[in-house]
Amino acid sequence: MAKVRTVFVCADCGTSQPKWVGQCPSCKAWNTFTRLTVAGGGGAAGTERGSWLGAALPPARAQLLADVGMADVVRIPLGVGEFDRVLGGGVVPGSLILLGGEPGIGKSTLVLQAAARLGREAGPVLYVSGEESTQQIKLRAERMALEADGLYLLAETNLTAIMAEVERIQPRVLIVDSIQTSFAEDVESAAGSVTQVRECAARLMRLAKTAYVSVVLVGHVTKSGEIAGPRILEHMVDVVLYLEGDRFHSYRLLRSVKNRFGSTNEVGVFDMRGQGLVEIPNPSEVFLAERLTGVAGSCVNVTMEGSRPLLVEIQALVTESNAQIPRRSANGVDPNRLLLLTAVLGKRLGLPLANRDVFVNVVGGLKISEPAADLAVALAVVSSSQNAPVPSDLAVIGEIGLSGELRSVAQLERRLAEAEGLGFRRALVPQMGLKAQAYGELKVLGARTVGQALDLALAGES
Ligand SMILES: Nc1ncnc2c1ncn2[C@@H]1O[C@H](COP(=O)(O)OP(=O)(O)OP(=O)(O)O)[C@@H](O)[C@H]1O
Ligand SMILES: [Mg+2]
Repeated sequence: MAKVRTVFVCADCGTSQPKWVGQCPSCKAWNTFTRLTVAGGGGAAGTERGSWLGAALPPARAQLLADVGMADVVRIPLGVGEFDRVLGGGVVPGSLILLGGEPGIGKSTLVLQAAARLGREAGPVLYVSGEESTQQIKLRAERMALEADGLYLLAETNLTAIMAEVERIQPRVLIVDSIQTSFAEDVESAAGSVTQVRECAARLMRLAKTAYVSVVLVGHVTKSGEIAGPRILEHMVDVVLYLEGDRFHSYRLLRSVKNRFGSTNEVGVFDMRGQGLVEIPNPSEVFLAERLTGVAGSCVNVTMEGSRPLLVEIQALVTESNAQIPRRSANGVDPNRLLLLTAVLGKRLGLPLANRDVFVNVVGGLKISEPAADLAVALAVVSSSQNAPVPSDLAVIGEIGLSGELRSVAQLERRLAEAEGLGFRRALVPQMGLKAQAYGELKVLGARTVGQALDLALAGES
């Protein structure tokens, strides 16, 4: 039996809406929406349904840039502050969002949390799971004590069936967990294959754009990123988010890699607990919470995660080596960078590291990829090697060059502001590009070389 789908289309600009509206959200024209009834569904509905999702709509007309009406982009806040911040304020209606992450990192937890709040506050949300039964999802929701009016659950992998429920429920947001388990029955390829993943995503994109539903696709990535993972979808979707973290630590970073509606510099920080992902509005405090003061081999660095400064503790341990080739072990910083830094410390400062093992660890499971952490790593190594603690009120920022020179770092002021806000009284930074000797209550010490920096840091009181 053929199903009938009704959409409302603006005669002026071709924008379509699931419901009739007086004024076109896109071109602002009044009373231009007309009802369009399109046959679809039934049988092998994948392709037919495609007709109401695109082909049956009137052909789009080219418009002069000056004539294009600005739709007020009303974002729908998800109610999970850190998630909203990463998205740039909330979900844009009709957008396609990809949330990727390694298995077990907490993707389903995060989307369920957002779906529950959204369903309660903004209208119906349809959460489709191809991996878990509705009972399993309910158990999770109960564990997380979620109140979820307006949240519909569907355990389904067949895209046709999913689309049928979208038509029936007309959700504001559709969540598909995961895109790898969804399949279009008219495509002859196994679920999870590149062809299926691409085709399903393309159909869901058409749904998003024509029916004005925001779609969140959950996708798995492996460490090597080899399987038909979300990477092949990155160019198709509007927003790409990755949930990252370390299995052995409870912190999770939600990072935006692409955002057609906002900045890609945002990072949200969460703590994975029994009741779900808890937002950490001030992550620096958490990363420094267990720091021991007055202990050699520890140094605080201000690193940037996107546009967000984070204070992290870098620890080093330098011990006599029994191995023929002394070990250099780096956890949270690039091992090659550690090799380079130990070479610079040996050559420029004469630090005796040739027959010593060096271990470096970033506390909290965070991974720092920027060279602005160089000076803090170097200081931690020297501090451990000489058994001289770095003063506990000192934050350290700077890149080290091969000649032992300190190089300026980006966004210094934001880093200093974060250090000041957390009660640090002194900051050690590269002299190059330094504009002020103080930042609020924070005294800023400039050094030109790693040697000078060490003198300034380790000569002071602890
Ligand atoms: N009862 C529980 N109490 C506390 N934490 C739990 C509990 N059950 C699960 N978790 C946490 O939730 C994590 C799994 O989260 P979730 O299912 O959201 O991840 P996912 O990224 O969706 O995984 P998958 O790849 O399997 O879909 C587990 O790794 C665990 O840390
Ligand atoms: Mg999951």
